[in-house]
Amino acid sequence: MKNKLVKIAKDTNLFLKQFIKKQKKTKLVTAMQYGLFPGGKKIRSKILLDIGTIFKIEYKTLVMIGAAVECIHAYSLIHDDLPCMDNDKLRRGKPATHIKFGESTAVLAGNSLLTMAFEILTSSNLKLNKEIKVDLVQKLSETSGHLGIAGGQYLDLSFEKKRISKNKIIDMEIKKTGKLFSFCCVVPAIIKKKNNKDIKFFENIGSSIGLLFQIADDLIDFKGSSKIAGKITGKDKKKGKATLINLLGYQNAIKYSNEIKFKIIKDLKKRSLKSNNLNETLDYILTRNK
Ligand code: IPE
Ligand code: IPE
Ligand code: MG
Ligand code: MG
Ligand code: MG
Repeated sequence: MKNKLVKIAKDTNLFLKQFIKKQKKTKLVTAMQYGLFPGGKKIRSKILLDIGTIFKIEYKTLVMIGAAVECIHAYSLIHDDLPCMDNDKLRRGKPATHIKFGESTAVLAGNSLLTMAFEILTSSNLKLNKEIKVDLVQKLSETSGHLGIAGGQYLDLSFEKKRISKNKIIDMEIKKTGKLFSFCCVVPAIIKKKNNKDIKFFENIGSSIGLLFQIADDLIDFKGSSKIAGKITGKDKKKGKATLINLLGYQNAIKYSNEIKFKIIKDLKKRSLKSNNLNETLDYILTRNK
């Protein structure tokens, strides 16, 4: 699994470096690159590849779409660390982008990475027909806005220091983190022009995987090492973040995450979508320490 992630990270970063190199160099691009490279597990790209492989979609196409996803993800992390958001100083083992370049530059670098994702999806290098590209752009913009990442981040911040119900926490975590995983899971179905029922199925699988991923992230914050995680841990409790650990307790949160994992595997089995690659990714998501 580690080796596979290393290869995906190498191929994705190579594509992104070349994509940026083709554009005119600006000062802002230095901050964008800082937020984008190095580091990042590329787990969203791995999920995209796991499911894309089931659908027999070309590796290069999947890496390019994964690169767009990683741009959105990197933007969301740059903004997540800002003083007006989580106010974190360490990211991927180095000073957060706003610490290194200042707040306004970090905001603008984040904005530029967000839009770069759409530049990638609409570029002529991506060999898909225009209709499919429009569908991908539509889905990724929905994923990123008030119904997805931005909306989830809004809820995350507004829930601080409040007692929030389990369902509301789940809804928030699915929005801020799950939606981008949903996008990764649904891309192959969009490319293969599957019907709405199939699209919904893969979106739901993605939401569950994303929820699983966020619970694991919360577990790392609760008990993990800052040195290994590359970000300061133990901060969710201090900030009064609404997490399932905070609500249900550490052991119950682990129990719940295992239930989600088995439900995902069961749902995939029902559709005869057996994938050892995907199973190994799910195991990794739950057992990771960074
Ligand atoms: C961290 O995501 C933020 C969450 C959505 C929980 P990752 O753990 O995937 O961050 P990188 O890309 O590996 O740094
Ligand atoms: C971040 O969740 C979710 C995003 C959409 C960026 P967290 O705030 O828990 O992520 P970390 O722990 O700072 O990486
Ligand atoms: Mg946050
Ligand atoms: Mg944070
Ligand atoms: Mg966290």
